[in-house]
Amino acid sequence: MDSFPIFLPLTGSRVVVVGATPAALAKARLALKAGAQVTILAPEGEDVTWEADRAPNQPILPGHAYRPVDLEGARLAYAATGSAEMDAMVASEARRRGVLINVVDRPELCDFLTPAIVDRGAVVVAIGTGGASPVLARRVRAAIDRLLPSRLGGLATLAEGFREAVARALPDGDTRRRFWERFMDGEPARAVLAGDTPRARSLALRLLNGTREMDEDAEDPGVVHLVGAGPGDPELLTIKAQRLLQDADVIIHDDLVGEGVLDLARRDARRISVGKRAGRHSMDQGAIGTLLVREAKGGRVVVRLKGGDPAVFGRLSEEIATLDAARTPWTIVPGITAASAAAATMGIPLTDRDHAQSVTFATAHPRGDRAVNTGRDDWAALARAGGTLALYMGLGRAREAAQGLISGGLSPETPVAVAMDVGGANQRIAKGALMDLPSLVADLRDRDPKAPGLLLVGEVARAAGRIPAHRPARAAQPSWTDLSFPAPFGATDFSAGRPQGGADPFYARQG
Ligand SMILES: C[S@@+](CC[C@H](N)C(=O)[O-])C[C@H]1O[C@@H](n2cnc3c(N)ncnc32)[C@H](O)[C@@H]1O
Repeated sequence: MDSFPIFLPLTGSRVVVVGATPAALAKARLALKAGAQVTILAPEGEDVTWEADRAPNQPILPGHAYRPVDLEGARLAYAATGSAEMDAMVASEARRRGVLINVVDRPELCDFLTPAIVDRGAVVVAIGTGGASPVLARRVRAAIDRLLPSRLGGLATLAEGFREAVARALPDGDTRRRFWERFMDGEPARAVLAGDTPRARSLALRLLNGTREMDEDAEDPGVVHLVGAGPGDPELLTIKAQRLLQDADVIIHDDLVGEGVLDLARRDARRISVGKRAGRHSMDQGAIGTLLVREAKGGRVVVRLKGGDPAVFGRLSEEIATLDAARTPWTIVPGITAASAAAATMGIPLTDRDHAQSVTFATAHPRGDRAVNTGRDDWAALARAGGTLALYMGLGRAREAAQGLISGGLSPETPVAVAMDVGGANQRIAKGALMDLPSLVADLRDRDPKAPGLLLVGEVARAAGRIPAHRPARAAQPSWTDLSFPAPFGATDFSAGRPQGGADPFYARQG
């Protein structure tokens, strides 16, 4: 963070805008919206009286030529005259008078930067890039704009109206926090966002009385949300998961959960890593269950965050059984499983109308650890299933998988694709034929033996590598390890969408 964000009340303060360019008028409009008294110092002859028409209660001095003395007593000043020399002069005059100045499009002359803004009345989100890229700031604004309900400001206003009454009725801090969480997650908020403020008010009153009574005679049982964190890229998280991360008092997470996802958690939430990765358990399943129950019994909101989808090889049944036995409420929030993320990264479907009518999610370690391995009959059954096979936890058993599937009836030339650390910093991908699977995997694992990896077996893997033409972000591109393919694979076009040469930083980093 190289600038410090603050919100500055401007009601009644004088803001001077020097210039009548479109950029200058845009800043004047923004300051007017914040309740400032705006003075536009336009060059002689420029007519800015239309601004007064737009905001009839705002005193605007219709333009006169710039005089340094007009900066006197201003809270803020903007310069966008269209002349670099004039702008620089205004900046130095403003600074001499102790007035904070912003010269539009000249960050080096600015005392403050104007952020991109999402405006929902009382709720304002400001986005800055330190002047580095206004276009990037606008993109972020658009993303946040889509996320926030249009009546969010009304929700803040309603909350403001209840603040004092709540503070009086619920003097205990924890009870008060619980009231506000129920207010924001429950019926009152839903009614405001649906446009029914009177109903929201009466629901909030009912909640306030209810919370007081509840506080007197009931213990809050807490709750455990079993949440999927997806493959690691925070943008692939569901909105619900994101909201729960903001609500959680405690986050109990696996190793596979990316740091970027954890960064979305409330800053004062407690984080506990129970570190499960490639059979390495830093806490056994029983201890994890005990921990979940203990945290929830303290009346806390617990997020049990698991990589991918918690319902896919996530030992969900064991955790649910423990929670049920302890009468602890729980919910499940799905996430994007590694197979879906890997297929998207490789630009292929998991099913295909012509040659993959089904997809099988299987594991090479049926109990999720190294104690139990997939047996000969299991491989044969997987080979017979046809369609696409997504094999989890299979990197360490690539040789057995290839042998087992071939003995079970799959052609040695069946296409396979391997995706390691999908969505992570060391994402790597390779494809080839089933008979080459052990060497494909060995080559990828050489560089990071501990990274998670997924095997996709079946006809869909033949097209792996056709990266979508319109990809949203460069970092989403896979890096490719070309390996020798038997003849039928020669037709695959690896060049589509691939940067040429070694200059691309993403490819260079991937080596
Ligand atoms: C215990 S399972 C958990 C699966 C997870 N619940 C899911 O839905 O993706 C762990 C296995 O998932 C696969 N996996 C998880 N994250 C991955 C990633 N980012 N890239 C590739 N494979 C991954 C690997 O096969 C790994 O061994």
